[in-house]
Amino acid sequence: MKLPDLAVSINNLTKIYNDSSDKNSKKALDSVNLNVPRGSFFGLLGPNGAGKSSLINILAGLVKKTTGSVSIWDYDIDQDDRLSRCAIGVVPQELNLDPFFTAREILEVQAGLYGVPKSERKTDDILKAVNLIEKADVYSRTLSGGMRRRLLIAKAMVHSPPILVLDEPTAGVDIELRQTLWGSMKEMNSMGATILLTTHYLEEAEELCDEIAIINNGSIVACEEKDKLIKRFDSKNIIMILSEAISEIPDSIQKFKPTMIKDNRLKITYKPSEGVVGEIISAIQEGGVRILDVVTEEADLNDVFLKLTQDKK
Ligand SMILES: Nc1ncnc2c1ncn2[C@@H]1O[C@H](COP(=O)(O)OP(=O)(O)O)[C@@H](O)[C@H]1O
Ligand SMILES: [Mg+2]
Repeated sequence: MKLPDLAVSINNLTKIYNDSSDKNSKKALDSVNLNVPRGSFFGLLGPNGAGKSSLINILAGLVKKTTGSVSIWDYDIDQDDRLSRCAIGVVPQELNLDPFFTAREILEVQAGLYGVPKSERKTDDILKAVNLIEKADVYSRTLSGGMRRRLLIAKAMVHSPPILVLDEPTAGVDIELRQTLWGSMKEMNSMGATILLTTHYLEEAEELCDEIAIINNGSIVACEEKDKLIKRFDSKNIIMILSEAISEIPDSIQKFKPTMIKDNRLKITYKPSEGVVGEIISAIQEGGVRILDVVTEEADLNDVFLKLTQDKK
């Protein structure tokens, strides 16, 4: 059978949560279109409340969409409910594990739910892959937060889905575990799995993903290959400390739109790709001002991300 080009295809997806009185209805997703290519490491990036979990939970079959269509591995989630669900493994944001089951039991039960025959189960291999084989027979309630997180990933893998979806897997985890999780996600992707990851950490998307969509207030505000998106963030600050205070900005540098942050400090935001730093400095000197020192600041990607998500409100 020919493999699909798109692991996930989402068309005009809208989700409205209604409360019983129908007064406080909340549009969590507003006509979302999104294509996740097979084999990609796809990042869905957005602030809290943007709609990431709503989207993921619709894919997982945990939340019912309002309108629109979704295909997973070319199976429509309405028409081919079972097949579409078999193609995906979802690691939810909440650490919801049965406390009185051992790690091994949790995986066995999950495999049973997916109809994986005993002879085809890979429980121990999966436990090894997520570094939990030593904990196979202890109750999940005695596992640390990091171990539970890894057990949830293992649980999503029992039916060997070609697509793995992780909803904020590294929110609130320590740096060491984050590195471990990044490593295992990269490895699964290099072995062919399509990974769809949600995060509100831009650096995480930058480190891992080759395609990034930014979601804000239920709408996709950007969707691009990572490299292109980062080029859009092409921005840096140069701060000039002047040898004496000035009362107004010299005309010669007006075109660089400086801001005076103190009477002897000027800040200019520029695009490194345009190579204008030399020009900026000589323009200041032309204006008869002496520069004492120069400081540059890398654009903070989180700031730019915030800007992008706030502009579109
Ligand atoms: N079960 C629910 N009932 C009502 N509103 C909800 C429910 N789940 C989420 N929401 C609302 O939908 C919006 C999107 O939430 P969510 O998808 O969890 O965002 P994210 O995962 O990006 O933080 C938020 O405003 C949230 O309060
Ligand atoms: Mg969420």
